[in-house]
Amino acid sequence: MKTDFPRRRLLQGAAAAAGAALLPMTGIVHAAASHRFIIGPKDFLLDGKPLQIRCGEMHFARVPREYWVHRLKLIKVMGLNTVCAYLFWNYHEWREGKYDWAGQRDAAEFCRLAQQEGLWVILRPGPYACAEWEMGGLPWWLLKQPGDAFLRTRSEAYLKPATRWLREVGRALAPQQLTHGGPILMVQVENEYGFFGKDLDYMRALRQATLDAGFDVPLFQCNPTNAVAKTHIPELFSVANFGTDPQAGFKALAAVQQGPLMCGEYYSGWFDTWGAPHRRGGVEGAVADIAAMLEANGSFSLYMAHGGTTFGLWGGCDRPFRPDTTSYDYDAPIGEAGWIGDKFSAYRQAMTPFLAAGETLPEPPPQQPVMAIPAFAFTESVPVLASLPARAIKDASPRPIEQYDISRGLIAYRVTLPAGPAGTLEAARVRDLAWVSVDGKPAGTMDTRYRRFKAEIPARGKPAVVEILLYTIARVNFGVEIHDRKGLHGPVVFRTADGAAQPVENWEIRAIDFDADGVLPKLAFKRGRSAGAAFWRSSFETSRTADTFLDMSGWGQGIVWVNGRCLGRYWSIGPTQTMYLPGPWIRRGRNEVVVLDLTGPREARIAGLEQPILDQLHRERDLPRPANTATLQLDGVKPAIDAEFAPGSATQEVRFAAPVRGRQFCLESLDAFDGKQYAAVAELALLGPDGKTIEQSGWTIAYVSSEEANKEDGGALNAINGQNSDYWHTAYSTGSASHPHRLVIDLGKTVEVAGLRYTPRQGKEGVTGRIRHYRAYVGERLVSGA
Ligand code: GLA
Repeated sequence: MKTDFPRRRLLQGAAAAAGAALLPMTGIVHAAASHRFIIGPKDFLLDGKPLQIRCGEMHFARVPREYWVHRLKLIKVMGLNTVCAYLFWNYHEWREGKYDWAGQRDAAEFCRLAQQEGLWVILRPGPYACAEWEMGGLPWWLLKQPGDAFLRTRSEAYLKPATRWLREVGRALAPQQLTHGGPILMVQVENEYGFFGKDLDYMRALRQATLDAGFDVPLFQCNPTNAVAKTHIPELFSVANFGTDPQAGFKALAAVQQGPLMCGEYYSGWFDTWGAPHRRGGVEGAVADIAAMLEANGSFSLYMAHGGTTFGLWGGCDRPFRPDTTSYDYDAPIGEAGWIGDKFSAYRQAMTPFLAAGETLPEPPPQQPVMAIPAFAFTESVPVLASLPARAIKDASPRPIEQYDISRGLIAYRVTLPAGPAGTLEAARVRDLAWVSVDGKPAGTMDTRYRRFKAEIPARGKPAVVEILLYTIARVNFGVEIHDRKGLHGPVVFRTADGAAQPVENWEIRAIDFDADGVLPKLAFKRGRSAGAAFWRSSFETSRTADTFLDMSGWGQGIVWVNGRCLGRYWSIGPTQTMYLPGPWIRRGRNEVVVLDLTGPREARIAGLEQPILDQLHRERDLPRPANTATLQLDGVKPAIDAEFAPGSATQEVRFAAPVRGRQFCLESLDAFDGKQYAAVAELALLGPDGKTIEQSGWTIAYVSSEEANKEDGGALNAINGQNSDYWHTAYSTGSASHPHRLVIDLGKTVEVAGLRYTPRQGKEGVTGRIRHYRAYVGERLVSGA
């Protein structure tokens, strides 16, 4: 369906430019400095002249404020004329009703600096952002309310605080719009909602809330190519997000509206998650795509132009549970520490032929200085359990931490078990990692990655104290799993070999709430080494200040603070081994460093390096994981379907002849369109008899015959994480099997499956791994021993 772009929209910019009275709350009278920006039938029009938007994303929260100007200059030098910035709601309202726009959070100042550097700004205030940021930018306190499906809906419990947030954004940033003399050109409503839902009235409500907040520049929504049509509404301009195949993206846009073509997020690289290979984005393909988009009179925004670092505790988590690394280098053309190289030059060269008449590109500013810091040892420590507050919360059965007004951090649970035989202590749920001990002796870990919510408890001759230390890593930022309540969730039961299950009650709960900025409690350090989870303290001296990269490879897992500032999380499983420490945060003289390590360091020392280490995986350093004893049992199982997928990259839905009940689902590839031995899948969803997709949040991978785990992240989880851009890919770096390849999903419960929705690996025709002939099976138990 093609709809003409409404005239109302075309006139929106004009109306605003004509009447500052429309925005009484700003109290500013606008004159010569204001501009007029509208969306024409073919072009963006700035003061009546076509403007091709060459934009790049940078999140001011991820770049030290002292370096904002340096990075903005580089964005300009690369050939861009606009910078795109998310606002993360939870960064500005961590505690309900308390807004913070100061210092590193000063969004208005960021806009002023962008304008000073000659850049327009595209603002993406959410309320939901995604962006590998804690809970996709939503504040944790929303989760004090009940329900697992109210976020990103028209439910009062969400829409009311979200509208209030947008109003606050308008108060702070509406004066920065170009209609008021500022640099803000356009404002995005929501973020890739088509990936999540299909309630068009929800999009309409948020659009209205953004208008009501005082935004009078054009508004737009972004969606991945395959979801553009799904949530397009005529009153909101659409742009498409992709990392390949601009032609397909632009075609999807042309099918729903008449207007200029724009890519809202062109992926220059991709983010990393702990324990998976470092990801890179190729240069040649990107350069060709950039040229193709500009050639087609298109506009784009590079995601990311400069990724930076997710400092503090703001890192997000991919679904079902794969926390993102602290480095957000993203393999972007401007690296984590603002370094530029071949990728930057190649992008710049690609854009040069498309500069506007009279536009020239400045030379890059010099790189920020970098220094090494000789290794310094940590000789003082204090156990976490000795650092907890004296006052305990008492509860019969533990509830999610949000119920206790704890935002995130370390939570210690204590309960007494009566004398009795050995058994299993089992919680309903554990988010995220927990270390269990009985009378001070370690009794294993609970780990949400494997849905392992239990621990084995030995026989006791007298009552024993069970202590569970829980660490929250990050709230999921994508999919319905954003309803990510942390902590140990009751009921907790104790199960003995005879099958009897007793409730375990009367808990004492003590928490170190790190709050918005990683606030440390008072710590009583002592000389010497503490066993297990502990805080450590040391310092280094320096006579100069320059950027450096703290090498955490000798440590386990935890958090680092320098001079009281929380740098972020580390996890020596990699692939990131270093923590970027910006020069302006270092003092001349003594610098105090505090480390929280949950498992204990192998070497309690840190050195500052002159280079980051972003691509060293050490899976052997991980917590114990369940043994993989899964074997496939397809013999005698009748396929629910035996058919061929359609060629191309479009998402396709297929129905089985009849619905089949089962707890496990298997996709089997028999050959691929390119005739090669590999299989790849971007996304798999299952359809219920009502034609709707089956809820995915309890899914795990029960079995995979082959996955690439070294050269790239081809992990099977990529097929069920909701992201079209990454994919499951069968192994190729360590010998490759040929078809049939099998992927088995455990659905968490028995359901009726009537069909499937398959999204092929994205990219141009001929991309490796697109499955042709396939079979699908549904059964109660297709895999044994899992
Ligand atoms: C989506 C989102 C972004 C980001 C990228 C992945 O496209 O819109 O916020 O999460 O995925 O980096």
